[in-house]
Amino acid sequence: MKKLLEDMKERALKELDAVKGTQELRNFRVKLLGRKGELKAILTGMGRLSPEERPLVGQIANQVKVILEKAIDEREEFFRQKEEEERLALERVDITLPGRGPELGGVHPLTRVLREIEEVFISMGFQVAQGPEIEMDYYNFEALNIPSHHPARDMQDTFYVSGGILLRTHTSPVQIRVMEKVRPPIRVISPGKVYRRDADVSHTPMFHQVEGLLVDEITTFGDLKGVLEEFALRVFGPRTLVRFRPSYFPFTEPSAEMDIGCVICGGKGCRVCKGSGWLEILGCGMVDPAVFSFVDYDSQRYRGFAFGLGVERITMLKYGIDDIRLFYENDLRFLRQFM
Ligand code: FA5
Ligand code: MG
Repeated sequence: MKKLLEDMKERALKELDAVKGTQELRNFRVKLLGRKGELKAILTGMGRLSPEERPLVGQIANQVKVILEKAIDEREEFFRQKEEEERLALERVDITLPGRGPELGGVHPLTRVLREIEEVFISMGFQVAQGPEIEMDYYNFEALNIPSHHPARDMQDTFYVSGGILLRTHTSPVQIRVMEKVRPPIRVISPGKVYRRDADVSHTPMFHQVEGLLVDEITTFGDLKGVLEEFALRVFGPRTLVRFRPSYFPFTEPSAEMDIGCVICGGKGCRVCKGSGWLEILGCGMVDPAVFSFVDYDSQRYRGFAFGLGVERITMLKYGIDDIRLFYENDLRFLRQFM
């Protein structure tokens, strides 16, 4: 019986080496040491031994059991560690990978230029006034000396809302709203959205203008030129060339448009300035006495000048952008350039 136990031990230790994995090991332990296992089977033969032999064999059986249990435990621990390592390798997180920070937003190029324009005029003593985008025909046309039969209404393609109500086609109606409320001296600018039925590389149905209005007792065309020239030099740089060309608006007389020397070619003539070397950035003029009569200003006593500039146009020239629609596509590759 002693031999039987020794043999079983040797064989079991060899078999143990071949066991692969925890489940197989669990079965192996039951088969060897379980209640119906091999060891128990051998020990049922104990009854046939003499009383002297029994304690000796019992001792050996116990030793075999302890040895086998220890061997199996060690094997189990080995598997446990191996499985743990495999699991950790699988769950491994590379903590050296740089994190993805929250993306910072930026100011839209139009907002940036609008703020810059506002700052220039505020520094010259202008205040900022606001007016509604949904406007009355009276303020958008009538009071600006554009009666309903006037051909000048054809200059602007208007979005009409309903009788007498429309989306303002320019910021000039704010001139009337301001003059209705306050008496001269007036120095205001009015930035905002305007709407026209217009869409191509240099026109969008909605765009931004900044209106300017100055009214006082002694105001000359020279003042108008001085203010607008200063504005152009501040926004486009001190070497910018400026010129005024005669033009026509029903609400100013005389009227002009201001050009700056082409910022793309420096005045030599290119595709952007269509070979002329000049680019139009705003319309302006001395307030027409007819407009003063709509707001009960004494045109013998007061003189004023007004101007209206396109913010998209100025932003395009400042940054060399050749398609106005880029401002409204929300393409991050475009917007990130201005951060
Ligand atoms: C006016 O709107 C006049 N109210 C300006 C004015 C004010 C003159 C005060 C005299 C006194 P005009 O239609 O030219 O003028 O528009 C002014 C500027 O708006 C243009 O120079 C151009 O830069 C811009 N603009 C006109 N239409 C569009 C459009 N569809 N998309 C983008 N910009 C436009
Ligand atoms: Mg024009």
